[in-house]
Amino acid sequence: VADTMSQSELLGFEAIPTSTTDTVNVPSGYKADVLVSWGDPLFANAPAFSQQNGADAQALQFGDNNDGMTFFPLASDRALLAVNNEYINDEYLFEHGGKNISADDARKSQAAHGVSLVELKKMDGRWHVNQEGRLNRRITAYTEMAMTGPAAGHSLLKTAADPSGKKILGTFNNCANGETPWGTYLTCEENFNGYFASAKNVTLGKTYQRYGISDSDWGYDWYKHDERFDVAKHPNEPHRFGWVVEIDPMDPNSTPKKRSALGRFKHENAALTVNDDGHVVVYMGDDERGEHLYKFVSEGKYDPSKGSANRDLLENGTLYVAKFTGSDDELNGQGEWLALTFGKNGLTPENGFPDEASVLIFAREAATQVGATTMDRPEWVAVHADKKHVFCTLTNNKYRGVKDNHPLNAANPRTENPYGHIIRWAPTQGDHTRDTFEWDIFVMAGHPEKQSGLMAGTDNINKDNMFNSPDGIGFDRAGRLWIQTDGNYSNEGDFAGMGNNQMLCADTQTGEIRRFLTGPTSCEITGLTFTPDSRTMFVGVQHPGAHFPAGGNAIPRSSVIMITKEDGGVIGS
Ligand code: FEO
Ligand code: CA
Ligand code: CA
Ligand code: CA
Repeated sequence: VADTMSQSELLGFEAIPTSTTDTVNVPSGYKADVLVSWGDPLFANAPAFSQQNGADAQALQFGDNNDGMTFFPLASDRALLAVNNEYINDEYLFEHGGKNISADDARKSQAAHGVSLVELKKMDGRWHVNQEGRLNRRITAYTEMAMTGPAAGHSLLKTAADPSGKKILGTFNNCANGETPWGTYLTCEENFNGYFASAKNVTLGKTYQRYGISDSDWGYDWYKHDERFDVAKHPNEPHRFGWVVEIDPMDPNSTPKKRSALGRFKHENAALTVNDDGHVVVYMGDDERGEHLYKFVSEGKYDPSKGSANRDLLENGTLYVAKFTGSDDELNGQGEWLALTFGKNGLTPENGFPDEASVLIFAREAATQVGATTMDRPEWVAVHADKKHVFCTLTNNKYRGVKDNHPLNAANPRTENPYGHIIRWAPTQGDHTRDTFEWDIFVMAGHPEKQSGLMAGTDNINKDNMFNSPDGIGFDRAGRLWIQTDGNYSNEGDFAGMGNNQMLCADTQTGEIRRFLTGPTSCEITGLTFTPDSRTMFVGVQHPGAHFPAGGNAIPRSSVIMITKEDGGVIGS
């Protein structure tokens, strides 16, 4: 059957089939090379990768599980790549597989988290890591940072080690990212709850439960060697994570700033756009079943002529959360942004919000208080270059409509949503500061061969472009929407014919979606950025599970790969 939508002028490559092999595959005429992998030395004095490396070595090497990233050009043959290092896999990080974590192991694990700032140089027509680069830097779970904005110094952020409530050590579970027009990098703290634990059985209150913080961690064991992760001893430490962190990548001595005005939740990415009137608007997902979609609007305005005076625009502004309405079977409707402002919309002391800082620190509860829509795990947000439309991946929600008290709603209309969807909205009159918008569903992933109705997916899904669990998304300069997946790669049952995780490319005008890349065994594809000429694309392969990239019997290593076109052309063209 002919695909009536296959006439996109934006998509110039031939779609590739699914794959279940331990390789990266790209369309004919393209190639994919590994740029950097977990454990690669970032400094001339750093040791070569070895699984036996300890904490000191890891602190001088590329971190683990690369995720969101941004390419900062420095010259035609020099650049800086800022890359998030989300988490670690015990079974690969340690030769002993993670049994009985020692003090050095815990420190190594902390050093494998955070952000890697990697200088690149172009030689022989391709980019390479430059170990001599002055800007190379590792930011880890113990790098000193400053808390800024309305919550800085609040009593809920004060600890025994930091009575100021403004000096925080580290960032971790850095999922996706953003960048600003004033040249800084934004890194987003996602599943921070998984690092707190206690040897004592303690029952924590509702404000901890809402974020999944308890007396047991996800196996990292940091609390055994670094007391601040013992939530019974230091109950305010978890309040110091779950933020967006702004980093000046051009000053290796700069102190990263946590921007409390953007709220505390399990941040996925930070999609920043400058509104026509100069207000800076940042869209942000909170990746958990039934959590919400947020927007920040700066108080000040961006003025390119003011240079570094723009640098604190993320310090103050208004945080909003989305409410979607519409009828259940139309896949479109209206929306409203509800302000999370102390004293408004029921965010009052009587309802448990004594001040502005508590609204930001407990943003999830504030969102519930104002009546935000529960979503199917909002992951990345991307703003089209024309600024008229914004897209967000809703990756999946196995409990939608069956558990967790999240009934179906117009924007999240599928029971157990196993495949995920991408929602799109248009701010009223193209003004991102307005509190209303119209929305529709750009694509509902599904299985047109095995399913019917909503489970089959929208019309732009066919047997040749099936995927599930959209996660990373981003636009290139020409307006192609790149879609990365973090889904079920069993290739069986409801997911038969979908293969390994992948990256697709969409023309958002015609709706057409084509598969561009397939990843190695068990990986997720996440993180994307381009050179300014769009002729090199950087893509992340996260948590591969077999032997990628070295092959043979090698342990797998998360890696950033670089995609180029053999004729030197624009990626996707
Ligand atoms: Fe780190 Fe929601 O992905
Ligand atoms: Ca993700
Ligand atoms: Ca995901
Ligand atoms: Ca991930």
